[in-house]
Amino acid sequence: MLNDKPVLIKITHSDPELLKRLAWFQQQPGCNETIIRSGDGDLPDLTITRQGVFLTNGAKQLPFHPSMALIRLMHLLNGRSDRYLEATQLKAGDTLIDATLGLGTEALLGAWAVGDKGSVLALEQSPILAAFVQDGLNHFTEIVPDARNNYKQAAWDALERASRRIEVRWGEHCESLKRIPSRSAHVVYFDPMFRHTCKQSDSIVPLHRWSDHNPLHHEAVLEACRIARNRVVLKERKDSPEFQRLGFNILPGGRYSTVDYGVILV
Ligand SMILES: C[S@@+](CC[C@H](N)C(=O)[O-])C[C@H]1O[C@@H](n2cnc3c(N)ncnc32)[C@H](O)[C@@H]1O
Repeated sequence: MLNDKPVLIKITHSDPELLKRLAWFQQQPGCNETIIRSGDGDLPDLTITRQGVFLTNGAKQLPFHPSMALIRLMHLLNGRSDRYLEATQLKAGDTLIDATLGLGTEALLGAWAVGDKGSVLALEQSPILAAFVQDGLNHFTEIVPDARNNYKQAAWDALERASRRIEVRWGEHCESLKRIPSRSAHVVYFDPMFRHTCKQSDSIVPLHRWSDHNPLHHEAVLEACRIARNRVVLKERKDSPEFQRLGFNILPGGRYSTVDYGVILV
């Protein structure tokens, strides 16, 4: 159903740069049904403007912004830990497959952890999210960070470098995983939409409209175990029966958190 709807893209000016960006969107596999509206009428899904590309969420227009990744990386650079990185145990030079890209927060943190010699392949079922995030990563240097201090600047620069290590691939992850050779990535990560949602921050609200809400398939986990050299990691709501259903061992920690991380060591 996600892939059946045409993506409506509006472009605000016919500048060569904006037309080039539009052409890029039209070439994205899941977006090839793009319908362009330059005037009023139907609310566009994406708007390409001189200030960047915006995703429509109700009355709001949201730009790609690594806001949560920035906050989490600032904490890390400040000596604090991050449960996602503890769960994945990513190291410099590792290869990560993020099977549920979403808005790319954890793909960016993973790309930071694996460093210059590592890489991240990010899979996303929603064509509009895959294209929106890849475009945001391609144009990362054009995003203007707000007020800066030394920590923020260091985190921003590190994320800018990390953004170049992520390759986004549109498609259903089980189908994509089947085509990936055995033992070819260190970690495979799943963060599916929760079976029951908790209260969410504004930054991830757009995920609800555009994302695939189906439960994670056992087959995808089996494929991930075949591909991973070190571990397969699942993020889910605290006490979710999904961990047991899919064979993950819940890691301790996060006493006050609404989520848990589960691991299968391979
Ligand atoms: C909770 S979000 C992931 C958030 C992400 N970790 C982040 O940091 O932004 C889950 C994403 O996985 C995608 N997804 C769900 N099932 C999928 C599947 N079978 N194949 C590929 N992507 C899938 C959804 O469309 C959604 O964008």
